[in-house]
Amino acid sequence: MVLPPLHMPIRSCDHFTSAPLDPIPLGVDTATDDTLHWDPSGPGDHLLIVNTTGGGGTAAARNVVEQCRTRGWQVIAADGKYDLYGLDSAANISFLGRPGDGFADPAWAQCMAAVVIAHRLFTARSAAARRGERVPNSPVLLVLTEFGGMVQQWHNQLPNHDVRELLDLIDEVRRGGGAVRCHVLMLPGSGHRWQAPRGWGRLCTQMFLGDLCARDAVPYTDTPVLKMGRGQRAGRGALVVPGEDGGRIRAIRGFYTYAPGSKLDGDGRTTGVAEQWEAFKAAVSDTTPALHPRLRLDPIAAGFPDIAACLWSELRRLPLATVPVS
Ligand SMILES: Nc1ncnc2c1ncn2[C@@H]1O[C@H](COP(=O)(O)OP(=O)(O)O)[C@@H](O)[C@H]1O
Ligand SMILES: [Mg+2]
Repeated sequence: MVLPPLHMPIRSCDHFTSAPLDPIPLGVDTATDDTLHWDPSGPGDHLLIVNTTGGGGTAAARNVVEQCRTRGWQVIAADGKYDLYGLDSAANISFLGRPGDGFADPAWAQCMAAVVIAHRLFTARSAAARRGERVPNSPVLLVLTEFGGMVQQWHNQLPNHDVRELLDLIDEVRRGGGAVRCHVLMLPGSGHRWQAPRGWGRLCTQMFLGDLCARDAVPYTDTPVLKMGRGQRAGRGALVVPGEDGGRIRAIRGFYTYAPGSKLDGDGRTTGVAEQWEAFKAAVSDTTPALHPRLRLDPIAAGFPDIAACLWSELRRLPLATVPVS
């Protein structure tokens, strides 16, 4: 089990300048023990994590979100399967939507709201850039976990045209987001990995975790040298960083991190993990200040009783509001 080192939380948005963003630690190189990163200012603007069940996808997502949140990133999440449990009220989580139990559940529109909110931030930044105005240097992370299942649910409940529009919003952020520091973390999800949009393998940094074989990775990467074999242990896999030389592939052991809400299972308690988690909680997670407001879509302002009463065509136009601090 490899644990992420402690780092200083970012205390002000003044930290962010036009200089490249700090790379996000993902784990260590299995061969050299060097720390491996996702470099959001490099050629792989976005991060795609492909896992098999039990491969460590949830743990990897929690690590990336915690690393980004505590570095002052503004996180907007559509959490398809409670991967981000416990993070609901954590600092710099501007919005965390979950899919709910279908149309009858008033929560069901929240994942769509996350996409709309992140797209709204992206278009505002892009428009400012086009006008030559100042664009915030602080990064935004749109998190899409168990995305294959989420798309399935959208298909079950919305007309095809609406689903296509939703996917188009995400793809706009994927294609143009890097230039205005709007990045995407996508996990297609173990049961649904064939349903992730095909374009996602291109120009993303990619982490493949668990018992995947080269064929599983074909929809996602042009890099031909995936030799992951059978029987990979949780948290182990390959990191593919795109680049001019055709990309680089490394064998990785992913960090197993504390994040708000994380609970250790039995074996974790016996291996010194508890002490490191306690230290990470005290020095990093709990001391991270909120640099970004909590956001929501405002159905009342548009004359709707709640967000679940909106059709997609209405929801995508709802005004953005900040949640008052109580
Ligand atoms: N990076 C890791 N290092 C060590 N153990 C891990 C790591 N990631 C996951 N595990 C172990 O594997 C179990 C399953 O991981 P999880 O992230 O839930 O997998 P998935 O979401 O791919 O199904 C975890 O409960 C944990 O015990
Ligand atoms: Mg999982």
